[in-house]
Amino acid sequence: MKENIKDLYINFFVSKGHKQIPSSSVVPENDPTCLFNTAGMQPLVPYLLGAKHPLGTRLCDFQKCFRLTDLDEVGDNYHHTFFEMLGNWSLGDYFKKEAISWSFEFLTKVLNLDINRLAFTVFAGNEYVPADEESASLWEAQGVSRDRIAFLPAEDNWWPSMEQFGPCGSDTEMFYWIDNETPAPKVFDPSDKRWMEIWNNVFMQFNHLESGEFVQLKQKNVDTGMGVERTTAVLDGLDDNYLTEIWQPIIKEIEKLSNKNYSDHKKPMRVIADHMRAIVMIAGDDAGIVPSNTDQGYILRRLIRRVIRFAKSIEIDTSTNFENGIIDIIVDQFKNYYPEILKNEQTIKNVFMEEKNKFNKTLENGLKEFDKIINGFERKQEFLRRTDPNAVVERKITGKTAFNLYETYGFPIEMTEEIARERGIDVDTSNFKQLFAEHQEKSKQGSEQKFKGGLSDASVETARLHTATHLMQAGLQKYVSADIRQKGSNITPERLRFDFNCDHKLTEEEIKKVEDFVNEAIKAEIPVTCEELTPAKAHEIGALGVFDDRYGDIVTVYTIGSLSKEICCGPHAKNTKELHHFKIIKEESSSSGVRRIKAILD
Ligand code: ALA
Repeated sequence: MKENIKDLYINFFVSKGHKQIPSSSVVPENDPTCLFNTAGMQPLVPYLLGAKHPLGTRLCDFQKCFRLTDLDEVGDNYHHTFFEMLGNWSLGDYFKKEAISWSFEFLTKVLNLDINRLAFTVFAGNEYVPADEESASLWEAQGVSRDRIAFLPAEDNWWPSMEQFGPCGSDTEMFYWIDNETPAPKVFDPSDKRWMEIWNNVFMQFNHLESGEFVQLKQKNVDTGMGVERTTAVLDGLDDNYLTEIWQPIIKEIEKLSNKNYSDHKKPMRVIADHMRAIVMIAGDDAGIVPSNTDQGYILRRLIRRVIRFAKSIEIDTSTNFENGIIDIIVDQFKNYYPEILKNEQTIKNVFMEEKNKFNKTLENGLKEFDKIINGFERKQEFLRRTDPNAVVERKITGKTAFNLYETYGFPIEMTEEIARERGIDVDTSNFKQLFAEHQEKSKQGSEQKFKGGLSDASVETARLHTATHLMQAGLQKYVSADIRQKGSNITPERLRFDFNCDHKLTEEEIKKVEDFVNEAIKAEIPVTCEELTPAKAHEIGALGVFDDRYGDIVTVYTIGSLSKEICCGPHAKNTKELHHFKIIKEESSSSGVRRIKAILD
C-alpha cells in the first residue's frame, strides 16, 4: 500500500525542524462560538496570539475537522463534513520565504506533483497590507511562471475572512489542474473549476478585534492547511474524491449492502459514506458526544438520521445493523492515527444503533400520521357527498402538512411524494419548497452564528471562568468524589459548562459545599501560577491531566495555591480575587454516568 499522505507530511515538516502535535478533540476546548474544530489552527489560537507553546515555534499536525454549515451540499464530488487537515505552523519563527519554499518542495519533491499543473493565488492588497509581491516573487524564484500567479482580493485571499475576529492575515493558495483530458492552460484562471485548491499558507500578522480594529500581532505567524481527502484525489489523478482509496472501501460496502452501483446512485452513497465517517469521528471522540437536540449532539443526530433516510432510499435494510460493517472499515482506517476511535468502537456502534431505533420509531409514527391525513380526505368526501353525490374533494397534501411531516417525522419531501403517489394523492411541492427554503435560511443563519468566529475567545471573562472551572473541579473532588474528572468543558464569556463523571445527581448540600469552596478560594486571593514541565514531572507533582500520548515533551501546569494543579493551556486569571463570586446555576444529567454543571461569576 502507498505511503499515507499524513506520514509523508509529518516526516517532511519534522525534517524541517517542526514538532508534531497530536490532533485535538473534535470539539474546541473552551470555545463556545464553535461547535467543532474547523481548521488545524483552532486549538493553536492562544499561541498565534503570543502565548509560548511548550513544544516551541515550529509545529505540525493532522487535525480532525468539520465544516457543516450546509449539510445539503454534501453529495457532490468533493464537499465533506468531516475531513482531515494537514498543517504546519510558525509561531513567530519563519515567515513567507521558508513557508513558500517548503510548500513547493513538498508538492513537487515529496508528492511529485507536476509543476506544469500548479498555479498560485496571492493577495492583491488592501488598506492593511500592500499587494503581496513578495510571495509572488518567492513562487517565481521556485520556477513558477507569472502567468500562473493570480492576485486576488480579500474575499479570496484573506483568512479566515475580513469579518471574523481573532488572528488573521493574507494568504497564498496553491491549486492543481485536475482535468486529465486537457493540458493545463498557460495562464491561470482562478474561476475555472478545474483548478482545485489544495493548500493554503496564511501569513497571520493581525488580530481582528471585536471593536473592528485590525492590530498587528506581537509576532508574524504562518498557518497552513491542506485537505487530506482532496489532495489524495489529486495524487490519484481523480476528479471525484469518492473514487480514492480513502472512500472506495466504504462505497464498496454500501454497494454490497444496497445491491446497487455507485455510478447510478452517487448522491445517496456519497452522503452515507461522508456522514458515516463524520459519525464515527464525532461519536468516537473522547468528548463523549451523544445524539441530542442541541449543539454537537444535534449535529450527530442529524447525521445519523440522514444516513438512515439515504440508506432507505437505496433500499438498504435499516432494520438490520447495516452500519456495523461500515463502522469497522472506518475504524480500521483511522485507528493508527486516532487511537481513541479504536477504544470507543463499541460506543460508536451503540450510539448509532440507539439513534436508529428511535428514528425508525419516529418514521413509523409519521406513517400513521399519513394515514390520518388520508382518512381525513375520505371522511370529508363522504360528508360532502351526503348533499352532493358528485362532490370531489381535492386530495392534495398542503405544503404546510408536508413540511410538518418533514420537521416532526423526518419525512423528506421525496418520501412524502412517493407515499402520496402510491395512494393517489398530490402534494403541493412548490409551497413545501418555499417553506423549506425559509426554514433553511433561518437555520443557516443560526449555524453560521455558531461557526462564525470559530476562534478561541481569550477574553478576561473566559479567563476568569476558566480559573473557576479548575477550582470547581477541585471542590467536586473534595466534596463529592475523589474520582471525578473533566469529561468536557465549554466556556462562554457569560458562563462555564462542565461535564464530569458522577453516578448521582448532586445534592443541594454538595452543590453548596462546592460553591463555598470556590468562594472561599476567591476570598483568599490566591495567585494563579503557571510553569512548564515534562509530563512525567507534572504527573509526579500530582497535576491533573489525561497523561495519554497527546502531550509533547513539555506541558503547562496551572497551580492555584494548594487547591488545584492542572495541565492546561490557559488563559487564566492571575489571582482568584478577580473571580468576585461563584454560583452554580444548573446541575443536570448530560449522558449516562456524566453530570453537567453550569455556573457563573457574578
Ligand atoms: N487555517 C487555514 C485554512 O483553514 C490554513 O485554510
